[in-house]
Amino acid sequence: MTVLVTGGAGYIGSHMVWRLLDAGEEVVVADRLSTGFDWAVPPEANLNIGDIGDPDFIGPLLKRHDIQSVFHFAGSIVVPESVTDPLGYYLNNTVKSRALMEACVKAGVSHFIFSSTAAVYGTPDGMAPVAESAPASPESPYGTSKLMTEIMLRDAAAAHPLRYACLRYFNVAGADPNGRTGQSTPNATHLIKVATQAALNKRPFMEVFGTDYGTPDGTCIRDYIHVTDLVEAHYLALQHLRSSEENLVANCGYGRGRSVLEVIDMVKQVSGSDFEVKLAERRPGDAVSIVANSDLIKDRLGWTPQYDDLEKIVGNALSWEAALERRNRK
Ligand code: UFG
Repeated sequence: MTVLVTGGAGYIGSHMVWRLLDAGEEVVVADRLSTGFDWAVPPEANLNIGDIGDPDFIGPLLKRHDIQSVFHFAGSIVVPESVTDPLGYYLNNTVKSRALMEACVKAGVSHFIFSSTAAVYGTPDGMAPVAESAPASPESPYGTSKLMTEIMLRDAAAAHPLRYACLRYFNVAGADPNGRTGQSTPNATHLIKVATQAALNKRPFMEVFGTDYGTPDGTCIRDYIHVTDLVEAHYLALQHLRSSEENLVANCGYGRGRSVLEVIDMVKQVSGSDFEVKLAERRPGDAVSIVANSDLIKDRLGWTPQYDDLEKIVGNALSWEAALERRNRK
């Protein structure tokens, strides 16, 4: 039973490809290499370069490989960018996901595992961890573009023989502890990536976006989850869909919040670099604080995080960043 990974040349997708290969699965990747890299796809996986929104590309691919299960990672992921380019986000994340779903229904795909986001919640009431039952109220076009896809998936699964899981990621960070892949986009905007680049002198300084939020140190709070724990949740979701009729919408996070300043301190501590940090204005689209209640995925899938440790997340991210630098120097 062959598995398709869209966005398999990207950050989270490439970790998923390695996890599936480790489990002995047959893996096909679809990626247009807009932000991913062909070298991030292991040679054992079958890489196909093309757009998931193009039915003439994706339809034949699904049929040729007799794909039963799809992991859908391809999409745009930068919250502030979605505020300035909402239509681009609705195209990439919503319209193209719809095209992919239609191709999957036509090809008789059985399982669809979707890369959703905590951004569907916006800023939840209070500081308590947010559960799946909380109202969805995105504060950015990015969050809305993902929520719309969740809704399409729910309705498509009700009408067709397709089962699905939507995994709502909190802040994914870190890299494969075995050093096989990591976050490679040079102009990435995510906090831990940016801080590790500053620590390795790949940028002269970094900025803290907003220091006047109503949090203990005034900076935003997020739940940082190691990418390896996240892909494990996906693998468990696949096994769940293969063995049961139950669809799933589940949070993936550790249930612990860290402020922007706490994360920067950890990067300084682990790297031993006292890089320059400038205090800046708030960034549009940012929720103040968002932390996961992940009881549901623990109960239903037996998900047991192995890397719930900010020091490990930062350590693996730094190792990957240093490896990228060596690679670029060659
Ligand atoms: N931040 C800085 N400086 C930087 C980069 C980020 O201060 O250079 C701050 C942001 O303002 C924010 C926090 O660090 O307060 C985290 O920002 P990220 O860009 O790392 O991540 P986001 O929270 O914006 O978004 C990520 C994912 C989304 C997911 C969300 C869930 O990209 O898919 O986490 O919280 F929905």
